[in-house]
Amino acid sequence: EAATVHQAENATISQGVVESNHVGYTGTGFVNYDNLIGSYVEFTVDATAAETTPLTFRFANGTTADRPMAITVNGTPLRTVSFPGTGAWTSWREVSADAPLNAGANTIRATATTANGGPNLDALTVGTPSGPDWSVS
Ligand code: GCU
Repeated sequence: EAATVHQAENATISQGVVESNHVGYTGTGFVNYDNLIGSYVEFTVDATAAETTPLTFRFANGTTADRPMAITVNGTPLRTVSFPGTGAWTSWREVSADAPLNAGANTIRATATTANGGPNLDALTVGTPSGPDWSVS
């Protein structure tokens, strides 16, 4: 199945703001998580069939401290994913985690686990990251 890109600025945001002051994002901006434990971004994504598929988060972290986030799928903890420093707030990279999705709608939430909050989050790609609809760099 083709990968689908979901922009963080269009997702449900708790304790974060949409900004566009650091270039290199896709879409119209990114989410700047508030610097506290528990801030989150939640995406609703559709899957045509139940399947385990990669979730790929595009982010920037201009500090030297990791900003790990807890990932839940449909309310069930999946794992904690590391969002390490990328060298600059304008340097974006991707990290992936495989997740089991249900057929139909799924909620994917990425919650900050440290007092630094999350990284700046640009987008979530669901599905194998290849093909013309996955061309961020
Ligand atoms: C800076 C940066 C923000 C970032 C923030 C942070 O203020 O400009 O984009 O979100 O640091 O540490 O979270």
